[in-house]
Amino acid sequence: MNKLNYIIRRETEKDYREVENLAREAFWNLSVEGCSEHYFMHMLRQHEAFIPELDFVVEIDGKIIGSIMYSESKLKDENNNEKTVLTMGPLCIHPDFQRKGYGKLLLEHTFAKALEMGYDTVINFGNPDNYVARGYKSCKKYNVCFEGDIFPAALLVKELRENVLDGRKWFYYQNDADKCCDDEEAVEKYDSLFPPKIKAWQPGQEEFYIHSHSTITR
Ligand SMILES: CC(C)(COP(=O)(O)OP(=O)(O)OC[C@H]1O[C@@H](n2cnc3c(N)ncnc32)[C@H](O)[C@@H]1OP(=O)(O)O)[C@@H](O)C(=O)NCCC(=O)NCCS
Repeated sequence: MNKLNYIIRRETEKDYREVENLAREAFWNLSVEGCSEHYFMHMLRQHEAFIPELDFVVEIDGKIIGSIMYSESKLKDENNNEKTVLTMGPLCIHPDFQRKGYGKLLLEHTFAKALEMGYDTVINFGNPDNYVARGYKSCKKYNVCFEGDIFPAALLVKELRENVLDGRKWFYYQNDADKCCDDEEAVEKYDSLFPPKIKAWQPGQEEFYIHSHSTITR
C-alpha cells in the first residue's frame, strides 16, 4: 500500500476540536441518524477511566485524518478476581482516507504502546470486518461475557499477549464513560456547536442494529 507521509502522535488539547470534527465526518449517519461520537470523545477525555497516554492521532500534511482513544475497564472471573483491560474506542479515519491502512497503523501503534504500559487485553464493540485482521476474536472464543452468560456478537477481544485470558470464564464490566450518550439532549446541544449536517437513514444503520443486537449462543 502506498501511504502518504504520515505522523502518528499524541493528541493535544489544541487538537480537540479538529479531532471531534473528524469523528463527526467519520461517524455521521453511520450507525444511527447523526452521531454522538464527538460528544463521547469530549466527555471521555474528562472521565477517570480515560488513558491520555493512549490517545493518538494520525496526521498528514498538518491535517488530522485519524484518531484512536482507550479507557480502562474490568474483567472479573467466577472467583471475583479482577483484571484491568483496555476498552478501545472511538477509532475513526476521515472518509477520504479510509481503507488505505491508516486504521491498521493506529491500532498496531497503540497495541505496542499498550503492551509497554503493561496492558495485555483489548476489548471493544464493533463490526468484526474491521477487526478480525488485527487478531481480534469473538468474545465467545475467550469465554468473555456479560453477566448472565451473554456473548454479544459484536463484543471483540484481542489478546496482546497470547493466552493471558487462559480459558476461564470472565465477565466484562465496561466503564460507564459512554453512558453520557444516552442523554440525547446533551448530545444535540453539543452537536449544535458544530457546522450543520443533515441526519439521514442509511442501510448500514440496519446492519449496525443487527450486529449490536446479536448474541452468540453456541
Ligand atoms: C473502521 C475504520 C476505523 C478502519 O480504518 P481504515 O483505515 O479505513 O481501515 P484499514 O485500511 O486500516 O483496514 C483495516 C481492515 O479493514 C478491512 N478492510 C479494508 N478494506 C476493506 C473493504 N474494502 N471492505 C471490507 N473490509 C475492509 C481489512 O480487514 C483491513 O485489514 P487488512 O488490510 O489487514 O486486511 C475506518 O474505516 C472508519 O473510521 N470508519 C468509520 C468509523 C468506524 O466505523 N469506526 C469504528 C467503530 S467500531
